[in-house]
Amino acid sequence: MTARGMFLTFEGIDGSGKSTQARLLAKHLRREGRDVVLTREPGGSDGAEEIRNLVLQGDPDRWSAETEILLFTAARRDHLERTIEPALAEGKVVICDRFADSTRMYQGLSRGDLRGLVDQLHNLMIRREPDLTLLIDMDPEIGLSRAKGRQGEEERFEDFGIDLQQKMRAGFLALANEFADRFRVVDGNRDMDSVAQDVTDIVMKSLR
Ligand SMILES: Nc1ncnc2c1ncn2[C@@H]1O[C@H](COP(=O)(O)OP(=O)(O)O)[C@@H](O)[C@H]1O
Ligand SMILES: [Mg+2]
Repeated sequence: MTARGMFLTFEGIDGSGKSTQARLLAKHLRREGRDVVLTREPGGSDGAEEIRNLVLQGDPDRWSAETEILLFTAARRDHLERTIEPALAEGKVVICDRFADSTRMYQGLSRGDLRGLVDQLHNLMIRREPDLTLLIDMDPEIGLSRAKGRQGEEERFEDFGIDLQQKMRAGFLALANEFADRFRVVDGNRDMDSVAQDVTDIVMKSLR
């Protein structure tokens, strides 16, 4: 779309520190004088935030796996049209807390092997990949205990348990190999400032 805008995403298992690091990075880049849009998925636009409530709240069996993929894709399409692409066209840095890689993992792996369906819908309706994806990799035991510290209404996916978290961790690392050109893996098993320093170094290098 534009040479100047940059699309950055954070990925990783629940509790790995994505939201924390996305916030810290946005703060850092704004201090450097960059125009930053900090956003998240599912959500990030009015329509997509409404869909977020549909997918994250309620009974775990509220949606079939296939319907859930359609809802995530619909939310992403709206987010892309209304928030991400306009910001990139204006040369802004877009930082997104989770994006299509999370759907490849959670909707693609957790309820059977639906990665093919996820990819087909992505190719049909989304197509865009981030310029850079920061995978915060960490021990699922720690991630789970951190995530349990936060309580909220958005709990449809919160009872995944340790086995699925292990599977997701391995899946994200495999994804980092599959898309090695845009993925950078950061060790999340450290204090926030050390992780943030690595993130900043990687991003500043790639902004230059
Ligand atoms: N490096 C860290 N060390 C210790 N606690 C952390 C670290 N990063 C985040 N946390 C805390 O762990 C919890 C989960 O972090 P969060 O950023 O919400 O993770 P995610 O968005 O990946 O689920 C939060 O309570 C956060 O304050
Ligand atoms: Mg988060």
